[in-house]
Amino acid sequence: MTGEGLAVVTGASSGIGEALARRLAESDRDLILVARTGHRLARLAEELAKANGIEAGILVADLETPEGREAVFAETEGAGKAVELLVNAAGFGLNGPEVELPLDRVLGMLQLNVVATAELTHRFLVGMRARRAGAILNVASTAAFLPMPYFAAYAASKAFVLSFSHALHEEAKQDGVTVTCLCPGYTKTNFHSVAGMRGAEATPFPEMTPDAVAKIGLEALRKKKAYVVTHPLDRAWIASGCLVPRWVPVKLAAAIFSRTRLPK
Ligand SMILES: NC(=O)c1ccc[n+]([C@@H]2O[C@H](COP(=O)([O-])OP(=O)(O)OC[C@H]3O[C@@H](n4cnc5c(N)ncnc54)[C@H](OP(=O)(O)O)[C@@H]3O)[C@@H](O)[C@H]2O)c1
Repeated sequence: MTGEGLAVVTGASSGIGEALARRLAESDRDLILVARTGHRLARLAEELAKANGIEAGILVADLETPEGREAVFAETEGAGKAVELLVNAAGFGLNGPEVELPLDRVLGMLQLNVVATAELTHRFLVGMRARRAGAILNVASTAAFLPMPYFAAYAASKAFVLSFSHALHEEAKQDGVTVTCLCPGYTKTNFHSVAGMRGAEATPFPEMTPDAVAKIGLEALRKKKAYVVTHPLDRAWIASGCLVPRWVPVKLAAAIFSRTRLPK
């Protein structure tokens, strides 16, 4: 190990996970980059190792599967490599009426967004607690704050991530471990094409770059915050949504996300 301590970053092959990996490499972290697309991970690992003088390894794993999740632990802590930072950024969404979405994709999304985040967080917390050191950054979404028609299972999956992470933030700090939840709004990544939806231009929401989101997330982690919503306008709608009956923002979300789905 050459750098500041080992970080495992899931979803590192693109978007927010990649941006987090880039910033962690610049701050001298050794990295293990996890996703399914091996050639993208390999290219990024080589680039980051060369540019920053760190060690960067890759792990090709499908985190929708128990075997993929098990491999992340087995090849790190299980192989005697203490992980100081876990970043759970792998995730995807599905836009559209729930009954029209392919059920296997909905269940795969829940395996990734909910089960993988919960399982990796749980497994790595054990070692961090024993060492009384470590940190976990879980990527949720602004969708975590509201039931979202036409994004129903995705928003519910991110509500789980926020609730789970915030609760563990309180538990883990007793053990010298930080758990922080990063809640981005619209961010310019592959997320929208994977979700089958239009980009931010089709909504009233502001859009950020993955690097700006990563910067805010790592700053929140450094400050040991429970969670952070990345854009001030998103913080404003979330706060104002608490001042009116809950059906009001839910109906607004329905009006917005019923129109963002890309035609097939
Ligand atoms: N972009 C936004 O507007 C936005 C807003 C709020 C929250 N988020 C959240 O931010 C996180 C990152 O998304 P992104 O915006 O950066 O989208 P992205 O560019 O599509 O990145 C998603 C990442 O997840 C990985 N992934 C997908 N399925 C996987 C699987 N089965 N096993 C392992 N890795 C898998 C992808 O890699 P492979 O395909 O190579 O496996 C990729 O690295 C997600 O949790 C998303 O919900 C995004």
